[in-house]
Amino acid sequence: MDAFASFIDEGDETILFEPVFEFYYQQNELFGGKTRYFSIDPPKGNSDKWTIDFKALRKCFTNKTKMILLNTPHNPIGKMYTEQDIHEFISILKDFPNVLVLSDEVACLLLIFISLLC
Ligand SMILES: Cc1ncc(COP(=O)(O)O)c(C=O)c1O
Repeated sequence: MDAFASFIDEGDETILFEPVFEFYYQQNELFGGKTRYFSIDPPKGNSDKWTIDFKALRKCFTNKTKMILLNTPHNPIGKMYTEQDIHEFISILKDFPNVLVLSDEVACLLLIFISLLC
């Protein structure tokens, strides 16, 4: 909440991935932000992987984009960003150096515990 309160002003745009954790748009809009939703593509065929169309994502950025929210593992679908995904994000963000990345890694400790158990 502090991040939205600190950085979002009336009319700023925040890119959120759908399916979306509802807390994000509530907080963004509470502080006057406009939400731009971008859908993560559901698994196709035999794959169990949700994927991001990065070409389409790039087109979501405008001169009003203030923030993009990354959440891995992504609530509510559990998608983990791959190394390739991270490179794709970096490649886009290099062209939008004023956009803030809010990285919500709330489940990170859980993943560390699980990896210690395996
Ligand atoms: C992705 C994500 N971010 C943030 C939170 C909020 O975490 P907290 O309850 O520690 O504020 C949750 C809680 O479910 C969550 O799933």
